[in-house]
Amino acid sequence: MTTYRGTAPGKVILFGEHAVVYGQPALAVPVHDLTAEAFVHDGSPGQGLIIQALDLGLHLSLAEEAAHALTVTAQLVLDKLGLPEPDALIRIHSDIPIASGLGSGAAVSAALARALAGYLGHSIPASELSALVYEVEKVHHGTPSGIDNSVICYSKPVYFIREKALDTFHAKVPFQLLIGDTGIASPTRTTVGAVCEAWQRDPARYEKIFASIGQISQQARQAIEQGDVDRLGPLMASNQNLLRQLDVSCEELEHLIAAALSAGASGAKLSGGGRGGNMIALVSSENRVQVRDALLNAGAVRVHSTTVR
Ligand code: PMV
Repeated sequence: MTTYRGTAPGKVILFGEHAVVYGQPALAVPVHDLTAEAFVHDGSPGQGLIIQALDLGLHLSLAEEAAHALTVTAQLVLDKLGLPEPDALIRIHSDIPIASGLGSGAAVSAALARALAGYLGHSIPASELSALVYEVEKVHHGTPSGIDNSVICYSKPVYFIREKALDTFHAKVPFQLLIGDTGIASPTRTTVGAVCEAWQRDPARYEKIFASIGQISQQARQAIEQGDVDRLGPLMASNQNLLRQLDVSCEELEHLIAAALSAGASGAKLSGGGRGGNMIALVSSENRVQVRDALLNAGAVRVHSTTVR
């Protein structure tokens, strides 16, 4: 039996969420400790394409459930390659928590597209894969900025400006982050909509906030590329302050941020859409365990760690 495997990492936004929707730069990095995997196996003649995600309780047939994000992904791959539906079974596994801003949807689509293309004897370059996953993201998230599909498909730290050529970067001195999950599901579509309404009521005020966030993203990129990790903590604090002004923080996020900072983290902020989901904390090898314990004691339902390189 032929089996093809495709994988994709999770992601976390470091700086610039929300402002990125309005054309400002944002920074995001892949989280390699969290992965989505897809395996394609030969099927029996006439069965068509079946997609199974047992963790999610999903069993989809391409012919019967054409509107699901996973079948949309498979169909886009077939259209792109100009090939008919194969008789095959795709099994999906992912340890990326869903609906928490860690890129689970984009990662599962990317893994599925890679595995299916491989099974059909093709390989999709990162730029084309990212465009394909963006099409799928649009079906479910309205008008996403495109940062998720970019960072996940390139699997590299990205400096992202909407509708501009993608820029990747790397950290001169690697640094460690903890990702603390409030456990509160907060659909990005809702927070993006709320910021949009506020912006429409007072464009001048909000555009000033977006521009300040954009400047922080630029400074953060410079600090990361120069290995000046000490500058990142204060930049995270300034970014968080502006996110509060956008009204996308919440009590639970603030509680985790305060807990991380009191336990020694040199910076902490929300990550992603906000009003729930995840926060990130900048830690060192010396304080990592202490900050992790503090986050769990403060109510984080999960804490992941990742190193940015
Ligand atoms: O919640 P996440 O990680 O999917 O991030 C949303 C980031 C926003 O800037 C708020 C929206 C977007 O499409 O970029």
